[in-house]
Amino acid sequence: MIPESFIQDVLARTDIVSLIERYVPLKKGGANYMACCPFHNEKSPSFSVSPTKQFYHCFGCGAHGTAIGFLMEYSGMSFPEAIKDLAQQAGLKIPEDNAPQQDRAQISSLLDVMGRATRFYREQLKHSQKAIEYLKQRGLTGEIAARFGIGYAPDDWQGLHAVFPNDYDSPALLEAGLVIQNEAGRRYDRFRDRVMFPILDQRGNIIGFGGRVIGQGEPKYLNSPETPLFEKGRELYGLFQARQAIRESGVVVVVEGYMDVVALAQYGFGSAVATLGTATTATHIQKLFRQSERVVFCFDGDKAGRKAARRALESCLDQLADDREVRFLFLPPEHDPDSFVREQGLEAFHRAIHDALPLSEFLLRELRGELNLATAEDRAKLVHEAKALIPKISAPVLQLQTVRMLAQDVEMSSDEVSRALGLRVTSPRNKAAARPAGRRTAPAGPLRQMLRLLGTQPQLIEHLPADAVSLAGDGPEASILQTFLDAHDHHGFSTSTVAALFESCQDETQKFILGELLQASDEARADDAAAREELEGHIINLRIALLNHEHAELTQRIQQGERLNQEEMLHFKALSAQKQTLRSGQKSA
Ligand code: CTP
Ligand code: MN
Repeated sequence: MIPESFIQDVLARTDIVSLIERYVPLKKGGANYMACCPFHNEKSPSFSVSPTKQFYHCFGCGAHGTAIGFLMEYSGMSFPEAIKDLAQQAGLKIPEDNAPQQDRAQISSLLDVMGRATRFYREQLKHSQKAIEYLKQRGLTGEIAARFGIGYAPDDWQGLHAVFPNDYDSPALLEAGLVIQNEAGRRYDRFRDRVMFPILDQRGNIIGFGGRVIGQGEPKYLNSPETPLFEKGRELYGLFQARQAIRESGVVVVVEGYMDVVALAQYGFGSAVATLGTATTATHIQKLFRQSERVVFCFDGDKAGRKAARRALESCLDQLADDREVRFLFLPPEHDPDSFVREQGLEAFHRAIHDALPLSEFLLRELRGELNLATAEDRAKLVHEAKALIPKISAPVLQLQTVRMLAQDVEMSSDEVSRALGLRVTSPRNKAAARPAGRRTAPAGPLRQMLRLLGTQPQLIEHLPADAVSLAGDGPEASILQTFLDAHDHHGFSTSTVAALFESCQDETQKFILGELLQASDEARADDAAAREELEGHIINLRIALLNHEHAELTQRIQQGERLNQEEMLHFKALSAQKQTLRSGQKSA
């Protein structure tokens, strides 16, 4: 966990305008900077960057976020990676870093040897007719080989000695997995006589290799071991090269093999990535969704492929959202993506991707398996099987839709199925009952206006009345207000606090509201007195809105024939007078 105050420091020391400018040319337009949005295709600029709020927002596609969010979206970094990157640029030291100085030195020396080895392998490819022939025969051009940094490890027990003449025995070479040391302490190259596929992380660092035997031989692929740089379950082969194509096509396709990625790129399909001989993990899925809302898993048509698909399905259920789409493509059994695109061409592959099976259908197909739905027993089994998967779907509407599909299969109503799956059935009556008595939600309008003002003019937080929090009720806006106040007490409250809160917020509704605050247009900055007056105006509106609310509730009870007790009656009468006082106070102020 990165402390929120650190996120705030990082954002305070980062200028979002100069950060984004490095990737996207910006033009000044009024208080903000404008550009054509890097996240969708457009001809006229609707992407705006606010220097005062340190926030970007696209009026076209709705993309928005802080400098951290921009790095994540644009270069696919994870949250901690983006923070680290910005912290480094700002010269800040990451607190309680679990990678102390020594580890960092180790990482950089490992990266260094990996880089040197890659250059060596690429150089060796030029001199190996055999390896060049092999790649050619697999249909690759020199251009694609260069794009993926493909090389050749010579048939030599100590080939790397040529690039590491003085440090072939350094610990880094062993730790990077480039050499193997036998019991006698003698070292030899791990990769010999193999075509080398460098594995890049999202910043383009080389963190591992896959080496393919030329022609027949075992093992077909030899991979780097897990090292401090390389963790198979986190990395996706080809992601670094695919980023732009993914952005442009709006879809990322996950395949099984190195050659599938490279061959697809060779045939003009650049948005493919591969898991590295492992099952698809939750981390993989997170990375994928960070790149694109549409993910297609494309597995070989064999039994292993189906099993891999099932694993991928299970890993992604709890990361679904209703604006995300996952599909599964099963190629004919004799094909993998490499042979398919080679034989049938790019168009056919595009069509196959387009027609891929939606997750919900694949899920039901998996569940149905061999069951005979003509029998009540098998229909019951189907519902029973579904219990392991459907409740995990984190996209509420898709979950409901899937329940409906299942309900048809088993000849039950959706509510019956939901109940059998242990899902909550929400009828309007339940909803009303779910709200605990005595709790209330303050009217969001005036409250949000107040938050928006505080977001642009944080110094106003000093002037909030003592009862501000209780006025705010217990909705998400109230939590935000409370967080603002806490931040103010702990480390002072500034515009970058709002951006930092946005970044560390776990609650989707709150995050949405904070995002809105940050997107609100920068009105001309009122002077201090005028701003205070505006704040007081919002507070009064809030009080009036609350009184209105109470008034309406009591009125409704009276209309429904309920008799109020004496105290309530007095209160009811007092409400109008109170509103009047507030209004006149507002006018005279
Ligand atoms: N794999 C591996 N080790 C092996 C075999 C496979 O790590 N011994 C991984 C590799 O990442 C490989 C993927 O699983 O790319 C798919 O394996 P496979 O389908 O056998 O190979 P292809 O990708 O089809 O390779 P090629 O086309 O070069 O035969
Ligand atoms: Mn293949």
